[in-house]
Amino acid sequence: MTEDRSQHWNTVYATKPADSVSWYQSVPQLSLDMIGRAGLAQEAAVIDIGGGASALAGCLLQAGYRDVTVLDISATALQVARAGLGEDAGRIRWIVDDITAWRPERRYDLWHDRAVFHFLTAQSERDAYLAALRAGTRAGSQIVIATFAPDGPERCSGLPVQRYSPQSLAQTLGEDFALLESGREDHRTPGGNTQHFQFSRFLRRG
Ligand SMILES: C[S@@+](CC[C@H](N)C(=O)[O-])C[C@H]1O[C@@H](n2cnc3c(N)ncnc32)[C@H](O)[C@@H]1O
Repeated sequence: MTEDRSQHWNTVYATKPADSVSWYQSVPQLSLDMIGRAGLAQEAAVIDIGGGASALAGCLLQAGYRDVTVLDISATALQVARAGLGEDAGRIRWIVDDITAWRPERRYDLWHDRAVFHFLTAQSERDAYLAALRAGTRAGSQIVIATFAPDGPERCSGLPVQRYSPQSLAQTLGEDFALLESGREDHRTPGGNTQHFQFSRFLRRG
């Protein structure tokens, strides 16, 4: 399964320019706004799950965060991201792994995921993600998860997705994760379509 998935994503990143994929954003503003409102210290540990070639990690460095990690199943995606960052790439930790198989070696103060959790359409995959989330955070950590909203697309990158409202996502994460705020984004794709996302920020309380 991991093999098929990594192949899918490696092919995507090897064949499409990073700024042409449907999820491309030049500035991940809503993510940055929510991370800003988390009120983290600049030495806080921040991880972007399935960060791909997103500009988020570079923006976080620019905002002064010093402990930034990007995890992605696609080594090709991370090569693209590193190339785009130049020397700054050396200030970021890069992890190639499948989030449903990953065993974190440390705990993060802020866990960010835009458009990754929604690919997990089987309960067993969601359970595996939640196990990684629990192992990679602690009580007091904050979590920002963006998925397609209930009126968003049913597929992304040719793969089926599970759509969420902030409330259904909160229910899926369970009562140890308190919903602090949510927002909606009408994401304009490079192809000119609009995709409805929900963004939710949670506090892990247990
Ligand atoms: C739709 S893209 C979003 C990329 C990035 N978060 C953004 O907002 O630009 C989904 C990303 O998740 C990664 N991905 C998909 N399944 C994954 C998994 N099981 N574990 C880790 N990364 C995964 C893909 O390689 C891809 O980079």
